[in-house]
Amino acid sequence: MSLMKHYLQFKDFRAEEYAYLFERARLIKTRFKNYERYQPLADRTLAMIFEKASTRTRVSFEAGMYQMGGSVVHLTTGDSQLGRAEPIEDSARVISRMVDIVMIRTFGQDKLRRFAAHSRVPVINGLTNEFHPCQILADLFTYLEHRGQIGPDGVDLSVLKGKVVAWVGDGNNMANTWLQAAEILGFKVHVSTPSGYEVDPKLAGIEDAGCYRVFADPLEACRGAHLVTTDVWTSMGYEAENEARRTAFADWCVDAEMMAVAQPDALFMHCLPAHRGEEVTAEVIDGPQSVVWDEAENRMHVQKALMEYLLLGRIG
Ligand code: CP
Ligand code: NVA
Repeated sequence: MSLMKHYLQFKDFRAEEYAYLFERARLIKTRFKNYERYQPLADRTLAMIFEKASTRTRVSFEAGMYQMGGSVVHLTTGDSQLGRAEPIEDSARVISRMVDIVMIRTFGQDKLRRFAAHSRVPVINGLTNEFHPCQILADLFTYLEHRGQIGPDGVDLSVLKGKVVAWVGDGNNMANTWLQAAEILGFKVHVSTPSGYEVDPKLAGIEDAGCYRVFADPLEACRGAHLVTTDVWTSMGYEAENEARRTAFADWCVDAEMMAVAQPDALFMHCLPAHRGEEVTAEVIDGPQSVVWDEAENRMHVQKALMEYLLLGRIG
């Protein structure tokens, strides 16, 4: 591939690139389910840098890279010089001379950008305070799968046009990424957050104000929605605000009443980890409309497609 690409935010790719990635993810998932060996990344190495905790992101990237024939190096702040103030630019220069691709989970998006600017190899955002693009990649693939739009005849993104995603809760990294996805793929996000925790469309770089609508009442945000989704009240890095958030978010719990005003076949999603009784009731997350386990599994399939794309370009 001539031009090196990074995946730092959802906006980094165009709609037709998403259509391609979902098609590849479908093929890659089918091979995995059939126990078919598919190792296009033999001899490639992924460095994973975690400055925050993770279960899904680590397992999905690590297992995915091994399945594709490659290997993985796992670094955390605590066991590398990153925790001892080595400049991020120097870390990028060094790490990217020895591996083929890098995934980073960190705090500010700016740190990720600085790493990418000094990296010789593609860099993937594994979550920052601002964005979580790999998760929305998995969520959209899951939505399309459940709507029968991922099949042997290909992937049809047009089903997303005009759909409503209800976001209930914190205006956080997930919410910002949903806004970016809505603008690119033509759906609408109905956002309801407690006051003081609003989304910031400027931060998300949203140009089309028509891609989202703000609701004071979370029930109204869910009315007619095709997908209802939420996230933890307190994201990683904001733990000091935990008590204040528990009070502020008390009414932003996705429950059966909210699901009842959404479309009858609305799906429920949560990036996980979840706190039953806080942002979602057990009845909803463990209920028939919830697709959270598919979402988690699909992280691996879409990220395998993403790594393949960043390293090998388009196949075929
Ligand atoms: N959803 C998600 O990114 O989960 P982890 O924090 O476990 O990686
Ligand atoms: N918004 C959450 C997502 C966790 C996967 C956080 O940043 O902690």
